[in-house]
Amino acid sequence: MTYANRELVKFAYWVPNVSGGLVISNIEQRTSWTIEYNRKLAQIAEASGFDYALSQIRFTAGYGAEFQHESVSFSHALLESTTTLRVIAAILPGPWNPTLAAKQIATINHLTNGRVAVNVVSGWFRGEFHAIGEHWLDHDERYRRSEEFIRALRGIWTQDNFTFSGDFYRFNNYSLKPKPIDPQPEIFQGGSSRAARDMASRVSDWYFTNGNTPEEIRKQVDDIQGKAKANGHSVKVGVNAFAIVRETEEEARAVLAEIIEKANPEAVNAFGHEVKNAGKSSPEGEGNWAKSSFEDLVQYNDGFRSNLIGTPRQVAERVVDLKRAGADLILLGFLHFQEEVEYFGKNVIPLIRELEADEGAAAVAAE
Ligand SMILES: Cc1cc2nc3c(=O)[nH]c(=O)nc-3n(C[C@H](O)[C@H](O)[C@H](O)COP(=O)(O)O)c2cc1C
Repeated sequence: MTYANRELVKFAYWVPNVSGGLVISNIEQRTSWTIEYNRKLAQIAEASGFDYALSQIRFTAGYGAEFQHESVSFSHALLESTTTLRVIAAILPGPWNPTLAAKQIATINHLTNGRVAVNVVSGWFRGEFHAIGEHWLDHDERYRRSEEFIRALRGIWTQDNFTFSGDFYRFNNYSLKPKPIDPQPEIFQGGSSRAARDMASRVSDWYFTNGNTPEEIRKQVDDIQGKAKANGHSVKVGVNAFAIVRETEEEARAVLAEIIEKANPEAVNAFGHEVKNAGKSSPEGEGNWAKSSFEDLVQYNDGFRSNLIGTPRQVAERVVDLKRAGADLILLGFLHFQEEVEYFGKNVIPLIRELEADEGAAAVAAE
């Protein structure tokens, strides 16, 4: 199926609230995890045409992520530094329960004119759960819990006397006051396993997936949209990409080659081992990183696979290809965030808007 002529494709960037940048490499990354750097980055992003920023939740050092600011409070700080940007706060069921998350996000929604959203993540890092004394549920049990978490969030935000009896959470005649104002907080989720896709087709507003080719993204989208339709649910799709946009394709490819050449093999292999194990324990034996090569794993979420590496025009065309495959949003990582977010906004987004306008005109002419 071709998913063309919808709304303009949206852009999000990964908030570097975790140290070490977005690639596991010793290449120079002019990116910082401090609040000062991030406040300025958020302001640059909203002035450059970005719609969303996505924060990360990490409780302990991963592979290169030695320092980690907490996602909800950090997201609130970025919202306070901006006026139109929406900030998606990552939330991990387990450490968060839905009662606190619903209350916390409802308050931030009031403080920021409804600009906060959440990304419910289900966990892949067993060592992290162990370090913080969190029970490590089986793969699909984690998604069963996340689905209850999302149903509870939505129920608390929209109903009075909310009553819910799940295997993980219970509510009895609970009325949250005040409830969020419109726009209601959007609920994103990350993960590509069977359980993740099925959850998206039932309860999430947005499905985030790792970087991939338009062909592979289309397969995921067909699967999810087919099921969502059968469930009477509507879900949008966000695709991860690590963008390297330079004046010539050679320059962009040379940067990718340097990232890989300077990768830290021990850290990349350890990360790969961890994430592949997390996916293998799903019933279908696959997950987000099932087909990731060493090179793919140098970027945490397979961002090179989306191939937004080249000149502004090449990258703009590839974004439109991803849109045709069903992507509603492109989630971007960069080596030097402040500089490259600005460059992307100035040199790539206008080309994408031109291409989208051409497609729209062609569709009208064909009607
Ligand atoms: C865009 C995106 C953002 C994510 N952010 C986080 C995060 O901040 N913290 C985290 O622990 N996991 C994060 N994850 C991991 C997922 O929640 C999930 O555990 C992982 O993708 C494995 O899912 P799967 O087994 O369904 O493939 C993210 C995933 C994606 C695609």
